[in-house]
Amino acid sequence: MLTRLDGLEQEAREAASSAGDLREIQNLRLRYLGKKGELTLMLRALAQIPAAERPMVGKRANALRDTLEQLFQDREAHIKKSTAGSRWERERIDVTLPGYPFALGQRHPLTIVLDEIKEIFIGLGFQVATGPEIESDYYNFEALNIPEDHPARDMQDSFYFTRRFLLRTHTSPVQVRAMEMQAPRLPLRIIAPGKVYRRDDDATHSPMFHQVEGLAVDRGITFADLKGTLLLFAREMFGPRQRIRLRPSYFPFTEPSAEVDISCIICAGEGCRVCSQSGWLEILGAGLVHPRVLEVSGYDPREATGFAFGMGVERIAMLKYRVDDLRLFFSGDLRFLKQFR
Ligand code: PHE
Repeated sequence: MLTRLDGLEQEAREAASSAGDLREIQNLRLRYLGKKGELTLMLRALAQIPAAERPMVGKRANALRDTLEQLFQDREAHIKKSTAGSRWERERIDVTLPGYPFALGQRHPLTIVLDEIKEIFIGLGFQVATGPEIESDYYNFEALNIPEDHPARDMQDSFYFTRRFLLRTHTSPVQVRAMEMQAPRLPLRIIAPGKVYRRDDDATHSPMFHQVEGLAVDRGITFADLKGTLLLFAREMFGPRQRIRLRPSYFPFTEPSAEVDISCIICAGEGCRVCSQSGWLEILGAGLVHPRVLEVSGYDPREATGFAFGMGVERIAMLKYRVDDLRLFFSGDLRFLKQFR
């Protein structure tokens, strides 16, 4: 019986030390110390051994029960501690792991071009002025020498709110607002960038687009000042070899008026598909401020003259970046937008 107890102890120690989790320990308890456990059965069998041996063997068997109980407890504690440790290992934050990529935004191509235009004119002493996008009939048309029944209103199909208010069809009303604010002080030099709205919608027209208005009023301003300013702009914007061409045109608020072309930036004037073989690309409308416009805005046309121009920002961006569909600017498609820096 003593040898069997020794064997049992040996076996239980080995089993305990190889137990990997708490369930195995629980199984060992049942196997040795449970109701029908091996040691329990041996303790019960004590009754059958000779009375002389019984106290000695009994003592050994009872001691073994305590030993095993302690053994399982120790192993249990050990397992708990080491699994706690490995969980810590698993959940530890590795600060050397690469982070999640952070998508950095960038300017919209129209903003890039707009900023560039502003930069050029600010360098020439122009200040940036703004006006409302919901404009009155007075500033959008009337003060610009476009009376109610004038056919020139049909040049700009408009979005009206009421008879008196509409979405501005161009940035020219800011000319009048700027002059009203400053007259009769001279000189006045402003550019007015912003959104304008017309009832147009196709590959080259959007119901909302951007313009930059320019206005200079001073004593003795001539057409030569206008031409020189626009030539400088074209060269800053598209490169030092640019040429410009002024064609006679008509706007009710300028006299004389011109459409301004730049030499084709694709073929440099040779003639290609982009410029329809003409060698020229139209980028803006301009002229000398009409005396009536100066007058209603507070300047004496005998003292002050001025030039004004209005350019389409999308048009310039399309040329600069060779974009063939205007709608791409407003589609919000990141594959398109990510190409501009
Ligand atoms: N406002 C005109 C347009 O939108 C452009 C323009 C501006 C022409 C200033 C002359 C002077 O077509």
